[in-house]
Amino acid sequence: MKVVFLAPSYPPEMQQYTRGLAEVGATVYGVGDTPAAQLPPNVKRHLADYLQVPRLLDEDDVIRRVHQWLRGREVDRVLANWEVLVVTAARLRERFGLPGMSVDTVNGFRDKELMKERVRAAGLRTARSARIKTVAEARAAAEEIGYPLILKPIAGAGSADTYRVDSPQELERVLGAMRQIPEASCEEFITGDEFTFDTICIGGQPVYANVAHYLPPPLIARSVESISPVIITVRDLQQEKLAAGQQLGRGVLQALGMGDGFTHMEWFRKPDGEAVFGEIGCRPGGAHIVDQMNYTSDIDLFREWARVACWGTFQAPTERKYNAAIIFKRAKGHGRITRIEGLNEFMKKYGEFVVEQRLLTPGTPRRNWKHTLTSDGHILLRHPDWDKAYELSQIVADEIHLYAE
Ligand SMILES: Nc1ncnc2c1ncn2[C@@H]1O[C@H](COP(=O)(O)OP(=O)(O)OP(=O)(O)O)[C@@H](O)[C@H]1O
Ligand SMILES: [Mg+2]
Repeated sequence: MKVVFLAPSYPPEMQQYTRGLAEVGATVYGVGDTPAAQLPPNVKRHLADYLQVPRLLDEDDVIRRVHQWLRGREVDRVLANWEVLVVTAARLRERFGLPGMSVDTVNGFRDKELMKERVRAAGLRTARSARIKTVAEARAAAEEIGYPLILKPIAGAGSADTYRVDSPQELERVLGAMRQIPEASCEEFITGDEFTFDTICIGGQPVYANVAHYLPPPLIARSVESISPVIITVRDLQQEKLAAGQQLGRGVLQALGMGDGFTHMEWFRKPDGEAVFGEIGCRPGGAHIVDQMNYTSDIDLFREWARVACWGTFQAPTERKYNAAIIFKRAKGHGRITRIEGLNEFMKKYGEFVVEQRLLTPGTPRRNWKHTLTSDGHILLRHPDWDKAYELSQIVADEIHLYAE
């Protein structure tokens, strides 16, 4: 089994998929923009060969170079787990005549308007929306959809350039801020709780499924610096309030023609219980959610994904033992972290539930919380009981403080 894996070392969690591929017996050919000499040793040892390209996001250039590089060698799969490369991988598959999702199918997971059109055409509930390219189209769409509304790029990620707009005056301001974005979605604003629906699929059928609860919704978490964003995987997937969302999720996978691999969907649960589709990617979620899923069941989905992608089988137990909560912290102040308050007390009392403590240590420069949800580090904890997991996450959010002053 010879696999071309795009971006084997960056973002950092890709290193785990590279390991997973090697562990299930694949010969891994990596393609990335990191110089070969700078690849971490634990990535290098899993790669049979590596091609460094100058611009990883330049699809045409990457395709040309990979084609040349592989000349005379047979490969069986081209895979990518990073959102910005899923189309490149599909183009390479088509070029080489390899199995896997087509460019057209993958576009349905990447273009947020095409995605909603296909989901809507299957009779599933999405926010009302329109594709806009000009200021005039934006004004007309806003008139039609009404306020509040959401404006966001067609192929966004990380909630970058996503705006809630409450009035025509605000619309003008936001349009000014979005001038550099060529194409956007204008959407009905959905009020409700926000959840994920994550899967590993074989032929569009989930062999693994997960739901996680965002507390609060990502748009709020990334707008207010004083918030410590929390995401908790839900142990009990059978509960009534999550049924509609999971049913919606399975419908979406069919509507978009999912094949093999990871998916990460976001959906809203309105106060009346209705589930509304948000968005979906044909790749794993970021911000450590795969680690959270692993801690939920004590399994290794990095490796199981690889097994599915290479051999079409999934072997991990799917029994859910815990609710796994990740809490991201943001320091008060600027510059370097100077001290952490409340951590020792928390660890003394609740340390047995903590599986990862990765807060930045004093002396480390702060990260830009606008650019990365991981902010100034995280604590990951787990508990079999939802209320307890939730309560512990709120204690971390409210009672542990980082300072940079
Ligand atoms: N129609 C909507 N109604 C209410 N909130 C919305 C809507 N669309 C987006 N949001 C909010 O904005 C956030 C970011 O939107 P979306 O997930 O579409 O963009 P993204 O940039 O792909 O985000 P990410 O990569 O962080 O998942 C959502 O998680 C949600 O909180
Ligand atoms: Mg999103």
